[in-house]
Amino acid sequence: MPRTVLVTGGAGFVGSHTCVELLSSGHEVVILDDHSNSSPEALERVAKIAGRPIAATHVGDVRDRRTLDAVFTRHPIDAVIHFAAKKAVGESAQIPLAYYDINVGGTTALVSAMHDHGVHRLVFSSSCSVYGDTTIVPLSEESPVAPTNPYARTKLTCERILADVCRHVPELRVLALRYFNPAGAHPSGLLGEEPHGVPNNLMPYLAQIAVGRREELSVFGDDYPTPDGTGIRDYIHVVDVAEGHRVALDHIDDEPGMRVFNLGTGRGASVLELMRAFQDASGQPITYRVTDRRPGDVAELVADPSNVYNAWGWAARHDLAAMCRDAWHFQRQNLYGYAP
Ligand code: UD1
Repeated sequence: MPRTVLVTGGAGFVGSHTCVELLSSGHEVVILDDHSNSSPEALERVAKIAGRPIAATHVGDVRDRRTLDAVFTRHPIDAVIHFAAKKAVGESAQIPLAYYDINVGGTTALVSAMHDHGVHRLVFSSSCSVYGDTTIVPLSEESPVAPTNPYARTKLTCERILADVCRHVPELRVLALRYFNPAGAHPSGLLGEEPHGVPNNLMPYLAQIAVGRREELSVFGDDYPTPDGTGIRDYIHVVDVAEGHRVALDHIDDEPGMRVFNLGTGRGASVLELMRAFQDASGQPITYRVTDRRPGDVAELVADPSNVYNAWGWAARHDLAAMCRDAWHFQRQNLYGYAP
């Protein structure tokens, strides 16, 4: 089992929950995060939940070679989990170059440093958005890819680069995990999703309405070819996503080369269904207004999660009610997130 794990973006939403999971299962954790969309406070809480310290935290940019060299020189890294990236679909259409620079440039810089420092295990944070606009659900890893926005194209580009590098470097082992929609929070109420600025994603937006920080939800389109006309997504509890990474590390040495797995539940929920589930969990009324579609959005993305189950005997366990309950618990305990 790889013991010391470098987690880039370890203070972020999925990153922080994954660090709890790694620490709790005996890994040493080294973090590299520039805190551009995360708070150092999250890391205090990670250590508190796990009851163990994080071995080291480096504040820096994953594209910076000197920072990477310092991290790999100072710590005996056995494996890397690469979360650090930008992830807002809408924003990616406004500033595509920044998305390519950070997401693709960050990945190539990291893999090149790994190679030079003799580190050959990588879990890469990919996305279901690589499947793009599809009418065939559920989506298996063999489904065609057709990303519809720059964010999704950066993730697919990274996957392709990693596959090419694996063909060239036989000792490299890469697991690309295509997450569907991570949501919810740690059941302790200490860790959750606290994006800087206005949330782009649905669940944190709902949580901020329920707690009184925002007025109403804009539902981005109700004319999709779905039963209620709103977009359907496969929401997966962030604790399940975190556990999926820990299990991935247990299996990273199973085979050399690059492998791709979906992390989803296989169950879809529409925007209005999630909104109602959040109302039920919080007991707070949520008002909404239907607006135009958001550029780059698609009608429906639901995982076929059977490959990961067949390979590792692992499946997501939490349902939508648990995601809403835990997201609400976090938001109520942390009205303004990690701000003091
Ligand atoms: C997108 C990516 C996903 C990625 C995630 C990371 C796509 C298709 N999906 O998820 O791969 O992991 O970003 O951030 O590129 N919605 C509203 N009102 C809001 C916010 C969202 O109606 O204020 C709707 C969206 O139109 C969508 C659903 O809610 O139908 C979920 O949106 P969101 O939470 O932003 O996630 P995705 O766009 O699905």
